[in-house]
Amino acid sequence: MRIVLLGAPGSGKGTQGDLLARRLGVPHIASGELLRAHVRAGSEIGRDVAARLARGDLVPDDLVLQIVGDAVTAAAAAGGYILDGFPRTRAQAERAHELARARGVDAQAAVYLALDDAAARRRLAGRAAGGRVDDGDAAVIEHRLQVFHDNMRPILEFYEQRGILVTVDAAQPVTVVTDEILTALASPTGSAPAAAPS
Ligand code: AP5
Repeated sequence: MRIVLLGAPGSGKGTQGDLLARRLGVPHIASGELLRAHVRAGSEIGRDVAARLARGDLVPDDLVLQIVGDAVTAAAAAGGYILDGFPRTRAQAERAHELARARGVDAQAAVYLALDDAAARRRLAGRAAGGRVDDGDAAVIEHRLQVFHDNMRPILEFYEQRGILVTVDAAQPVTVVTDEILTALASPTGSAPAAAPS
């Protein structure tokens, strides 16, 4: 199964990505985690992107496409993937679709984890002690939410037009969200079309 997970910061992409990967037996690829690994390693890419991650700004599309594309191709060869944090722009969605379709590894479902901003803020504040550079500052969290709202609607429309969008209420307990995703993926019609974020 090849799935992309979409949603606001704190909506549970990483949490659900881990759980779904284990349940479905495919790798979990997280674009943010791949980028943070470069920062930790002090690689040239890491030095280039560190300030953007700290500010909550998006990393340039070309760079993310290269990093994520390699991981997706390798995972797809092994049976599929759960991709979280990508795409973040309509351009990323369109370019990834073209590249992946040519390789036969295009996403089969896009799962949107719907969560209001107040709940997202509470979750990110609760995780602040975990040491992520973009969690510790309320202004950075607001900026991440704004970047999400500025970009997500066209992405949801892209997947809705492709007929593979599934929307799940991410405010529910973790296990309920996982079960709803799996149920929707098993259903021939999926869930109701997404309500675009406000
Ligand atoms: P990224 O790492 O993708 O971060 P994010 O989108 O801000 O999302 P988070 O990791 O904060 O949240 P999440 O939705 O994964 O929720 P989680 O499961 O952790 O991106 C970071 C940065 O990298 C970006 O700002 C950008 O700079 C760059 N970047 C990444 N991808 C990019 C791309 N494609 N293009 C350009 N730039 C890119 O959960 C959050 C908390 O809530 C946890 O404490 C968890 O335990 C809790 N929780 C989860 N689910 C529930 C639940 N159901 N109930 C209660 N608590 C829950």
